[in-house]
Amino acid sequence: MPTKPDATLLPKAAPADGPLIEIDDLHVQFALRTNAVARLLGGSSGTVNAVDGINLQLAQGEVLGLVGESGSGKSTLGRALLGLVRPTGGSIRYRGQELVGLPESQFRPLRRKLQMVFQDPHASLNPSMTVGRAISDALRIHGLHPGTDQRRQAVATALERVGLAPAGRFIDKYPAELSGGQKQRAVIARAIALGPELLVADEPISMLDMSVRAKILGLLEELRHDLGLTYLYITHDLASARFFCDRVAIMYLGKIVEIGPVAEIFDNPRHPYTQALLRAVPDPDPSRSVPRELPRGEIPDAADAPGGCPFHPRCPEAFAPCGWEPRDVRMVLEQRWTSVPPDQYAAESRLVADGPKFATRVSPTSALIHGASGSPNELLQLLEDERAARPEEPLWTGVTGMQVSGRAVRLELVPPAVPHLQPVEGSGVSVSCHLFHEPHPE
Ligand SMILES: Nc1ncnc2c1ncn2[C@@H]1O[C@H](COP(=O)(O)OP(=O)(O)O)[C@@H](O)[C@H]1O
Ligand code: SF4
Ligand SMILES: [Mg+2]
Repeated sequence: MPTKPDATLLPKAAPADGPLIEIDDLHVQFALRTNAVARLLGGSSGTVNAVDGINLQLAQGEVLGLVGESGSGKSTLGRALLGLVRPTGGSIRYRGQELVGLPESQFRPLRRKLQMVFQDPHASLNPSMTVGRAISDALRIHGLHPGTDQRRQAVATALERVGLAPAGRFIDKYPAELSGGQKQRAVIARAIALGPELLVADEPISMLDMSVRAKILGLLEELRHDLGLTYLYITHDLASARFFCDRVAIMYLGKIVEIGPVAEIFDNPRHPYTQALLRAVPDPDPSRSVPRELPRGEIPDAADAPGGCPFHPRCPEAFAPCGWEPRDVRMVLEQRWTSVPPDQYAAESRLVADGPKFATRVSPTSALIHGASGSPNELLQLLEDERAARPEEPLWTGVTGMQVSGRAVRLELVPPAVPHLQPVEGSGVSVSCHLFHEPHPE
């Protein structure tokens, strides 16, 4: 029979006065290793803004979901919280204490309070160590339960608390002898044995069999209540976020684009990206199934993020101030060329210059589109033809003029404005989109 968890061996988090975690204007940049050739070919600036100005608070005991496509910066934000990557700017406070810039010697004692559960439980466990040893080593490193007997009892308590009961059956097992779900339980046992307050769970169920996913989430939910845990739950699986989270933050290219209570996000999504993500979720009931509809285009390169609103190239509702750029013109032409006969493609694509020579930005509100072969009048005609063929294309709302200028076509553009995350009155939700707040060109 499972032993009753010993309260002294699995202590509950002490109540916090204010928010447990406060994040202000957090930035994490990574340097890219680009060589001279890549730069000449129009490569990126050499840095990725993986986390790009995030503000967030976590109340004690809440589950905040962090949702977004791959590459949106979710893991980097989680890792920054635990001091596993160094922020390039901003502040993270845990119970009021600043973590950014804290020397490792002062961070070390806090580590056991801030724990992480990763996607791959197998990679999180040392294959040559029994699970009992893995947990007891973690306790030893943090100087917890110094006596051998007490430590073994603490290990057993943690194992039984996560459902690996009776502990005697699991304590001497190697990871290879456990199923995926059991391994993830062992990883969770190792984390809770240290008496954490915040658990960053980074896609903790996405590598597990369908049949055990709900059980592991159920376990995390129980531990939240019993141990007073606070979670940052990172996922690209909206269904599990809906089930598990109190609030959800939607991330796109290093920024939070919408955040609010789970019911508001799912029942009344406001940001066009949130709406697109929700439309893309396959309905479990096939009779009600809607077509998968992801935002058009690929998620852009984070090292070369679009100007204005970073979502504008994919946004079905984008309009004049959303930040139109010459590369959006290129995208529109490339879309056109996917549906024209080969000889028309050959003739038209010869008119425009390739790669970085395609356009030059003259100012935030004007750009030159450079011709290759042919006259600039032919290039202008191509652009006019495309506008006439698809006037509903959002790009054209931002183009106020096109005329020949020397060997190029000069575009006049609406001044771009960057949206900021701001509250939508009376909803508990904040959104970063010009549809909700007056655009202010910089
Ligand atoms: N150590 C690193 N070095 C360079 N770039 C990185 C590193 N870690 C993440 N990135 C980049 O940062 C961006 C965000 O990545 P990540 O936080 O892993 O996103 P997510 O977890 O949402 O998939 C991506 O463009 C990724 O390529
Ligand atoms: S500001 Fe809003 S409408 Fe404009 S591109 Fe961004 S998400 Fe779309
Ligand atoms: Mg990730």
